[in-house]
Amino acid sequence: MEKAMERTMERAMEMAMESSKKSVMKTGMFFSGNVPVLVKAVVLGVAVGGTAISTTVWSENLDAHRDEARALTFSFGTSLKEVLKPAMKKSGPIEALEVCNMQAPSLAEDSARSSGWQVGRTALKIRNPNNQPDAWELSVLKAFEQRKASGESPAQMEFLDVVEVDGERRFRYMKAIPTGKLCLNCHGSQLKPEVTAKILTLYPTDQAIGFKEGDIRGAFTLSKALLK
Ligand code: HEC
Repeated sequence: MEKAMERTMERAMEMAMESSKKSVMKTGMFFSGNVPVLVKAVVLGVAVGGTAISTTVWSENLDAHRDEARALTFSFGTSLKEVLKPAMKKSGPIEALEVCNMQAPSLAEDSARSSGWQVGRTALKIRNPNNQPDAWELSVLKAFEQRKASGESPAQMEFLDVVEVDGERRFRYMKAIPTGKLCLNCHGSQLKPEVTAKILTLYPTDQAIGFKEGDIRGAFTLSKALLK
């Protein structure tokens, strides 16, 4: 697993480097693929009640942080799929639910431990209460929904910023997770009764159902402390 993760990480880094050559990066910027769209960072700061402060110091380093975040997201996402797909194929959604329940949080921890980043997933409607968004994440998730409503595809949707919390500057990154066909087995609107029952046993407060293909299911969320 570790080896495989290193390999996907390396591959993702190469891809990210390649795609970042053309794009000039700034904080507080929405971008989609290689087409950056500038958005007033002030909006975000206000939306989270002033706890998030977009810095005006633009260091070249941000490109490197963003590339790292992209690579980690790719490898975390890949490991999740590597766990989910075979489990679904082999034993169906009930067993796969257990696998997801056991593995998803520890895969996030693995990525975090080996990289110095905080790595996780969050959503507006969550299954695991530990995935609850904080104020910054909530505002980004809402902005993702607005971007989708105005026609942008969730597949490439990202947002990054530098925020200051309790005197500490942190680089924060989110990437939208679109809902695919496979996901509907456990997040759709017509679940098998036994799947619903299993979900409610594991997650009595589950909100993560009723999604359609193409909806934003949630987002990867990563952050890292920046040196002063
Ligand atoms: C076999 C059932 C199953 C399938 C299929 C499934 N999920 Fe999940 N999903 C879960 C479970 C269980 C959790 C809670 C995991 C945890 O404890 O962190 C979860 C959590 C999530 C979360 C974290 C936010 C939250 O709600 O807690 C996201 C995002 C997510 N799933 C997206 C997807 C996407 C995208 C797909 C399709 C590629 C998918 N899931 C397919 C069972 C499933």
